[in-house]
Amino acid sequence: MHETTTENEAALDLVLDYSRKRLTARDLPLDKSVSSADLRRLAPPAVTEDGIGAARALAVFEHVLAPACITTDHPRYLSFIPSAPSKAAAAFDIVVSASALYGGSWLEGAGAVHAENEVLRWLADEFGLPAGSGGVFVQGGTLGNLSALVAAREDARGRGTAPGRWAVVCSAEAHSSIASAARVMDVDVVAVAPGEDGVLRGDAVRAALDEHGERVFAVVATAGSTNFGIVDDLAGIAEVTTERGTWLHVDGAYGLAGRLSTRRREVFAGLEHADSVIVDPHKWLFAPFDACALIYRDPERGRRAHTQHAEYLDTLTETKDWSPSDFAAHLTRRPRGLPTWFSLATYGVRAYREAIDAAIDLAAEIGRVIAGRPELSLVREPQLSVVVFERVGWTKADYDAWSARLLDEQLAFVTPSSHRGRPNARFAIVNPRTTIEDLTAILDTMS
Ligand SMILES: Cc1ncc(COP(=O)(O)O)c(C=O)c1O
Repeated sequence: MHETTTENEAALDLVLDYSRKRLTARDLPLDKSVSSADLRRLAPPAVTEDGIGAARALAVFEHVLAPACITTDHPRYLSFIPSAPSKAAAAFDIVVSASALYGGSWLEGAGAVHAENEVLRWLADEFGLPAGSGGVFVQGGTLGNLSALVAAREDARGRGTAPGRWAVVCSAEAHSSIASAARVMDVDVVAVAPGEDGVLRGDAVRAALDEHGERVFAVVATAGSTNFGIVDDLAGIAEVTTERGTWLHVDGAYGLAGRLSTRRREVFAGLEHADSVIVDPHKWLFAPFDACALIYRDPERGRRAHTQHAEYLDTLTETKDWSPSDFAAHLTRRPRGLPTWFSLATYGVRAYREAIDAAIDLAAEIGRVIAGRPELSLVREPQLSVVVFERVGWTKADYDAWSARLLDEQLAFVTPSSHRGRPNARFAIVNPRTTIEDLTAILDTMS
């Protein structure tokens, strides 16, 4: 299994040839999921005492398993938050695996950690965070939010606060991962109503802090809500958290990429006051799954909360080295920031800004088209690159049937959403290959 043999080289060729074909294909189908019964029938057992060999296993993957997975980087995949890795980023993920890199400690992975830190430094500068800020790439936004909130609570504990129950304040439209983190941490969520426009503002946060006092160890502001792409009033919220000395965490898993744009910089004013932020390169920064950049204003506060201590780790923890494992709820880690590093190095930051601008412009353009069609109505004006709209007269069942038809016909993947109990349709646009023609063709199916 581990020697360089003719057989292993042949397996490697097969895998690299497949990867090249996938990464250079011009017109991939959307594909769709298949029932478990069908997969059991179509895919022969591969995990057997003798194995089935690389060629057969790859054939099963190529012809049965891969087509049963939706193409998340397809230009007409517009559900949830799509993925759109650049060619360079996706290709470099192969290098990361091939190199058996360990990204947990400086001792073992200094070169990889240096490159990841270059990306984190660049992001921190773009976000207006101070020179000492830094962090780590974790698996995803959920783990990034959890790790930041654990650090925030540890920080509050370190200052001697000891309420009966801790609480975190966030918008009622914050991502579900905040509630998930609160469950894991066994703390309460104080969900504050945002304005009609979906924006959480400082006065509402102030009222929540007045009511819940020192129980509150962190306020979470969302920079680009998942449902609408709306950015909370970061400046107004930061004014309150600064005044009260409460940790401000900014969840920008999807939307903080918008800060790189030349279009919407002003909506992120106040970001520079955050104690911690996250942004997911696997969303709108063109990296493959899975990568979330978690940055602390003062990384020591992250380190104090998260460093694991054990005899066999003393070699690592007794030094002052920068070890990424120390900054989140994890130990072993792949240096998952490297594909982003390679992609940024390949294309330059300007290409990123332009691609993000293009998504924002496209969202605005399709928003105007929707507003101009009598059978459609926008639920809210798009702010970044999420567009939510209703088809007049449609029930939830109509949206469900329409969405299933789009996928059956391989036209698009657009899952229905809802707002305050009313069903709607939602385009999440991050893929630079998505065109206005793609989107209008989908709208045409609703008339
Ligand atoms: C605003 C926001 N926060 C957190 C998350 C969770 O990120 P992940 O799915 O990478 O765990 C998402 C995912 O869409 C999100 O949009």
